[in-house]
Formats: sequence, C-alpha cells, structure tokens
Amino acid sequence: MDKLQVFGQADLKGSIDIPGAKNAVLPIMACSILSNQCLHLTNVPNLVDIKTMQKLLESFGITFHVHKNSMSLIPTNISNHVADYDLVRKMRASILVLGPLLSRFRKVKISLPGGCSIGTRPIDLHLFGLEQLGASFIIEDGYVVGSVKDKLKGNTIELPTVSVGATENIIMAAILAEGRTKIVNVAREPEIQDLVNCLNKMGAKISGAGTSIIEIEGVSKLIEAKHSIISDRIVAGTYIIAAIMLNKDFIVRNINPEYLKTPIKILMEMGANLDIGDNYIKIMPSQLIKGTKIETEPYPGFPTDLQAQMMALMSISDGISEIKENIFENRFLHVPELNRLGTDIIVKNDTAFINGNRIFKGAQVMASDLRASVSLVLVGLCAEGFTTINRVYHLDRGYENIEETLGNCGPKIVRLK
Ligand code: EPZ
Repeated sequence: MDKLQVFGQADLKGSIDIPGAKNAVLPIMACSILSNQCLHLTNVPNLVDIKTMQKLLESFGITFHVHKNSMSLIPTNISNHVADYDLVRKMRASILVLGPLLSRFRKVKISLPGGCSIGTRPIDLHLFGLEQLGASFIIEDGYVVGSVKDKLKGNTIELPTVSVGATENIIMAAILAEGRTKIVNVAREPEIQDLVNCLNKMGAKISGAGTSIIEIEGVSKLIEAKHSIISDRIVAGTYIIAAIMLNKDFIVRNINPEYLKTPIKILMEMGANLDIGDNYIKIMPSQLIKGTKIETEPYPGFPTDLQAQMMALMSISDGISEIKENIFENRFLHVPELNRLGTDIIVKNDTAFINGNRIFKGAQVMASDLRASVSLVLVGLCAEGFTTINRVYHLDRGYENIEETLGNCGPKIVRLK
C-alpha cells in the first residue's frame, strides 16, 4: 500500500490550476445511462473514483473513449441493470446509478453501498423519492431490488432532510418520467447545478437548480451533448488553507469564488489576507490568524468536506476554536491522527474543540477518509521533520497526484511504494 512522506516547514510559491470537480463528474457520468446518445465531457479530473465509476458503467455496457481530461461515454449497448457488489463496495457514489438504471430498464438491482468511515450513509431518502415517482423496492441478500410497473410518473416530492445524492438520483429518475416533477428541499451544491446544466444540454427540461425547489418536465428522449465539468471547490479550498497555514504568497486559479463564498468569508474574518478575482483567489501573508467557531451545513453553508482542513488551520490559529459537524455522525476520525502530529483537539459528541498556537512535529499517521487524509498533509507541510501518511489510497480518491501537484509549487512530498 502506498505511503506519502511529507517534509515539513515547506516552501510554497507560484500557483495551482484547480481540476474538475469529483462530485460533479460522478453523477454526470451516471446520467449517461439515461441516453442512447454520446456524452462528451471535458475537464474531467484524473482520480481513482472516476476510474471506479467508469468500471461500474462499463459493466452495464457503456463504452468509453478517454484521452487525458476528456471522456466520451457511448451508451448505445447498455444491456445490464445489475450493479455488482464487488464494484459498488469500492465507492459509495455508486448509488448514483440507481435512479438512471430504474428509469432506463424499469428495474434495477444494486448492492447496498454500505457505510464508510464517516458514517452509516443510509439511502432511505433516495428510495423515498423514487417511490414517489412510482417505484417499489425490496432489500434482499444485501441488494436493493427496484421496479416500476410502467414508466415512472412525475410527482411532487418533499424531502424531509437535504441530501446531495438523493437529490441527484431523484432528478435523474424524473428526466424521462411522464409529466412534471417538483422536488422540494433539494440540495443546492454547485455540483448539482452542474449536473442540471449537463442534463439540460442533453435535452432535459429542468429549472430551479441552486434553489431549494427544482422542477422537471419529463421528456421522451435525450440527445448527444458536450459538457465541461466545473472546478473542484473542495480541492481549491484545501489549497487556499494550505497557503494560509504556510503564510506564503500563492494563487489558486481556475475556480469560481462564488462556490467558496462562506469559507472565504470565514477565513477573512479569521485574518486571512485574500484577493478575490473573477476566477482565482490570491493568498498573501497575514499578521495573525485568529481562531473561530463554525458549524458544517448544506450548501451554501460551510462544507463538511472542508471540516478536517479547517481543523488543521485552527490548530495554528490564535486562541481556541470550535467546529460543530452537523452533516455526518462520525467525521472526526482525523482527530487522533492530527493529535499525533501535535495538535490539541478534544471531541465532545458532535463538536471538536481545537487549541491553537500549536507546534507540529512529524510522525507516522494513518489516513481514514478522503478529506481527513488531506488534513494530515496540511499539518505535515508545517511540521518539524517529516510525516509518513499510511493508507494514502484514501487521498488518491479525491486529489490528483498530490505529490506532483503540490511538489511543483515547492513542498517535498515523496510517494513510497
Ligand atoms: C455527498 O455525499 C458527497 N459525495 C460527499 O462528499 C459530501 O460530504 C456530502 O454530499 C455532503 O455534502 C458525493 O457527492 C459523491 P448526503 P452524499 O446524502 O450524497 C444523510 C467527499 O469527500 N442521508 O448529502 O452521500 C447522510 O447520512 C464526499 O467527496 C440520509 O440520512 O451526502 C448524511 O448524514 C464525502 N439518508 C446527510 O444525510 C439518505 O438517504 C448528508 O448526506 C441520504 C443521506
């Protein structure tokens, strides 16, 4: 299993171009199941999760032409509606094929995705929404088996809580349903807006993306389309926090600052010295970064996917900080690993209390989930000595070749096979 060796007191200079968003391209790849026409994507990031989704879609009969960051999906020979356990277990986002398969085949069999380190990750909201469109489900032998008698029928669906994945599955299932669908209390993430923009290019009729109510007019078929994936706001936020922690001049390019409005507001209130351009964010050294109190919320609130990275920054900020995690029930697994590097964090129920002004010392640590692993890199970059991060496959799921990406800007990060 690969390890990363991160050398501390790193320099950081120049700039980084942010790649396409993992959490936008995964549902967009899944929506190709709905069409008989090609879907051409650009600005696709080179990540393990994208390869996992490709393998899953190939198992249904979709063929791919991939060249660097461009990907064409050819769904003309789809024949299989079963999503196999061995493929689904590798990535929770596999559940995003549920709605499209049900719409195309009027039946679906998909392995239950199972939990992961940050929580049980149930799918009750996904099933609830699809049942409102006329589907029925049974759970047998660890699989969700769904069917619909005739075509899915449009309906009004009120989601009891906000869910990114459930919103995406219901939207994709409603595209070809008979009549109108109105979904209330949907997630508003930019990645959902990107999915809707791509679906509308494919001939769907969707309005309201980015608000909490989405309306869909069912259509009978989709057309060939081209779409460029939006940039990854979580990767961008990660590198902005890295530059603030290292207190260096740095530019994060190719990102819409609107996607990071809340994190930017909070970082500037803490004392970060940021220049906000139309498609870049410039970080400059600042006198003092003060601790603060935040809680994670659905978009446009502070994103849970930046919680671990913020914890790293708070550990060298002045004073005590607090983070309340409202989205996932177990997303503090990085705390004991960070404390091995010299942070001083205590967790009480859903809140972490972070002492600031810490000195970090490199050590052996274990990655636990995608975003937790990158918080270990951030602390490692600031530590005395070097830090060895085990189970770095977690990191590769969401960060493209981080040793080279960051390495090109100064830090020394070595991958050990
Ligand atoms: C998406 O996960 C993202 N993944 C996650 O990013 C992100 O952390 C999360 O949204 C929240 O923003 C992808 O887009 C591939 P949810 P998702 O459904 O859709 C509960 C990363 O690091 N819930 O919005 O699974 C759930 O347990 C990943 O890139 C139900 O109770 O998140 C959680 O507590 C990690 N029932 C809350 O809702 C359901 O049916 C939010 O989950 C579905 C969800």
